[in-house]
Amino acid sequence: MTAPTDPSDAPRPRGLVDRLVRPPLADGPFWIIQGTVLVIVALHYFLDVHPDVASGVLPSGLPVAVLVVPIGYAALRYGLPGSLGTTAWTLVLWLPDLLLPHNEGHPGDDLLNFAVIVVVAVVFGRRVETERTTQARIDSANARALAVEAGYHRLFESTRSPIVVLDEDVRVSDANPAATALFGPVTGQPLARVLGPDVDLASLSGRVLTLENGHDYRLDLVDMPFDSDERRQQLSFEDVTEERSEERRARLFARQIVDLEEDQRRRLARELHDEPLQLFLHLARRLELLAHHEGVTEKMAAELERTRNQALEAATRLRSLARDLRPPALDQLGLVPALSSLVAEIDDQGEATISLAVHGGPTRLAPEVELGAFRIVQESLRNAQRHADAHHVDVVLDFADEGLHLRVVDDGRGFDPHAAPVTGSASLGLVGMRERARLLGGIVVLRSTPGIGTVVEATLPTGARESHPAPAPAPGP
Ligand SMILES: Nc1ncnc2c1ncn2[C@@H]1O[C@H](COP(=O)(O)OP(=O)(O)OP(=O)(O)O)[C@@H](O)[C@H]1O
Ligand SMILES: [Mg+2]
Repeated sequence: MTAPTDPSDAPRPRGLVDRLVRPPLADGPFWIIQGTVLVIVALHYFLDVHPDVASGVLPSGLPVAVLVVPIGYAALRYGLPGSLGTTAWTLVLWLPDLLLPHNEGHPGDDLLNFAVIVVVAVVFGRRVETERTTQARIDSANARALAVEAGYHRLFESTRSPIVVLDEDVRVSDANPAATALFGPVTGQPLARVLGPDVDLASLSGRVLTLENGHDYRLDLVDMPFDSDERRQQLSFEDVTEERSEERRARLFARQIVDLEEDQRRRLARELHDEPLQLFLHLARRLELLAHHEGVTEKMAAELERTRNQALEAATRLRSLARDLRPPALDQLGLVPALSSLVAEIDDQGEATISLAVHGGPTRLAPEVELGAFRIVQESLRNAQRHADAHHVDVVLDFADEGLHLRVVDDGRGFDPHAAPVTGSASLGLVGMRERARLLGGIVVLRSTPGIGTVVEATLPTGARESHPAPAPAPGP
């Protein structure tokens, strides 16, 4: 393909005055026009002086109207400056004829004819000028479009990203060398044959496909810019294998951290249940037995009873801690019972009224989705308790077809979620919520208005996901 000329390199069109004062002296037709004018004027003078030579053949003198021929041609060839310049030049040549005394009988006609010629020169010249300007603009726009198109084609040919052009029937009408190297000769083939029958054009843009060569490609579908009659689209494939494997590694790492954390929580919950909790319960039983032992005074019995109650209180706190670490209801009964128990527990503490509403379902979801949802609500409730000073907190669970929607709304003091975190702050709750949602292919949106309250919304897809080991059930304290 030849390199297109850059339209900005083209000489700028000259202005009217410039073209008028600097006629195209190097142009042959310019001299033919001037010569014709000279011949007509000379003939006119000759016939004026020798009227008998052509009497009866030509009207007296040569009619000025004949001048319309060179002037019109000048207009056609050089536009308004051509017609005006030629008319002015003719007037100069004709001037002596109008002034000479021998010229009897037709100076009036000549003047009238000249007036007509000047009008014709101006009107015709202007018209031609307008058309020339319009044409020049069109030519320049076309040249620019051609240059852009040529640039695009160079890019199309040389880019390392495969690109195919699709016609209205979703057939490949063109493919660049990179696309041909990836798919083989595909021109003329339906796209479905290139990418597989399940490909839906409407949802293609932005999708990432793993192709037969094992690489991941992000697809981008745009309308072709240079087609007017037929709608064509360009489908480009950006190799994102490296980027995706980085992402996968980062996601795997994040998942391992989350799994590790859950594992530690589970282990700690089990150990709290198996060791100190049992010890406190055992201690409480022993203290109870002791209180009823022979020889124990009433005062000692009362003291033993108080100590027993303290042991029971410690056991209750440990149980609550273990439940917080890993609620057994979550694995055994599912998300809704686990959240009901969490909500009831926080509600009992009396700092705020907590409500739980469930729409749709409730159904059992994949263990990792239930756990992720539970942790997000748990952290939102904990934040509302610790930071919001809220009166009411509403938890809404919506089991929709497209996924699980969670909403935790508090009417507390709110905060600025976009404010930069305090340097060195160890706040990980919100980050953890987002990370959990991301690992599940979902999203957390947080909206908060100082003085009004905070809304945490999460959407977690509940469809088939990457396999993820189900957590082992936690002990029931
Ligand atoms: N519901 C809320 N109302 C008011 N402020 C909130 C709310 N939720 C979060 N915040 C603010 O956002 C900050 C960050 O919350 P985040 O949960 O990430 O950390 P944290 O609760 O301080 O610590 P942790 O890592 O233990 O969760 C909080 O310190 C608090 O200032
Ligand atoms: Mg927090």
